[in-house]
Amino acid sequence: MTDNPIFAVAAKAEALRAQGADVITLAAGEPQAATSAVVVEAAVAAVRDPATHHYGTAQGDPALRALVATVVSGDTGLPWSAGDVQIALGAKHALFLTVQALIDADDEVLVAAPGWPGHAEVVTAADGIAVPVDTDEEFRISAEALDRCRTPRTRAVILSSPGNPTGAAYPEDRLRQIADWAHQHGIWVISDDIYRAFDYTGTYRSILRVAPQLRGRTVVVGGVSKEHAMTGWRIGWLAAPPQIIASARLHVSRTITHVPTVNQRAALAALGDTRTPVEAASCYRRRRALLVDALNGIDGIDCPLPDGGMFAFPDVSALLRNRSWTSSADLAAWLLDTAHLAVVPGEAFNAPGRIRVCFAVDDDTLITAIERLQTALGAAEQESAVRQMEETR
Ligand SMILES: Cc1ncc(COP(=O)(O)O)c(C=O)c1O
Repeated sequence: MTDNPIFAVAAKAEALRAQGADVITLAAGEPQAATSAVVVEAAVAAVRDPATHHYGTAQGDPALRALVATVVSGDTGLPWSAGDVQIALGAKHALFLTVQALIDADDEVLVAAPGWPGHAEVVTAADGIAVPVDTDEEFRISAEALDRCRTPRTRAVILSSPGNPTGAAYPEDRLRQIADWAHQHGIWVISDDIYRAFDYTGTYRSILRVAPQLRGRTVVVGGVSKEHAMTGWRIGWLAAPPQIIASARLHVSRTITHVPTVNQRAALAALGDTRTPVEAASCYRRRRALLVDALNGIDGIDCPLPDGGMFAFPDVSALLRNRSWTSSADLAAWLLDTAHLAVVPGEAFNAPGRIRVCFAVDDDTLITAIERLQTALGAAEQESAVRQMEETR
């Protein structure tokens, strides 16, 4: 059994740090910022409240569920209530609860390639088969590509817009095509909206806003991890039709009893704080430009401007061809060893020839990381030029 390759990079970076190396990591899929003081104070108050010291309900705190329902209603333009929401241990757990509710063993779930490995992992964890669907040159899946992968065992498709690692956001016409295809074939749509606040193009739309007829076969997944810099608090949710919520609630009740109450109170405070995600999005948008420009200034790197999310996903295949690295995994390992800079190789996302670079870090960290990258690759270019001259002598 293999673990998520992103965690392997993080572990290696951590090991180097433990040996005293000054490692910068642009590998993690999380904001570098601390959780806001409003949330931290709410959590402290919650810890002091004896009501949080005892069992809660399996479905989750009704106040938090009601607030989540308001968010999902706003995104979808459809009415949702607290009863339509299940609180989970992060969006990943919500995805798992959704998939296990939807599939039998060996049923198939379609996932984007390149795509976040967690999507395939939750399908495997629920005894299903994750089927990678090739994306187009703008990293979006199409109804045609989905249909090529459809079999009698296809139960669902997981969509994420904006996505990880590509940042691709789906425009309305593409969402409509996918919705028509899903509707026609009775396939469930799992809409992973974890990056909904980080759309820099203004094109983000919930698939349900575009295709409300899918309501009975759509699950909306979200969470506070990225929007509120709360990856460690592990609070996510799903909003879904009653049979999915019933299954998810039962699974939670039989396994973890419920999600920790203090953390749910923290998430409640986060959802009341609409300023933090807007400010974070404005910083990320600026840092996206800084990073993408710098990457495109390096010979052999071609970096598209991501629509949203927290990552640049450059094509480094020309760099690999011209120099001595055999793969992007090899390049990423070299960068970590020589420049003490951690990025995730594209192999982790079904995209050899690319690397994923996170820009949800502060300005100083990003600028230093870019300088390290430029210096290390500049030195490697000089070395390779000297080698070539010697060979041709
Ligand atoms: C597309 C996507 N969905 C879900 C998650 C998981 O979110 P959480 O930390 O809330 O489990 C991630 C984390 O990287 C992600 O990239």
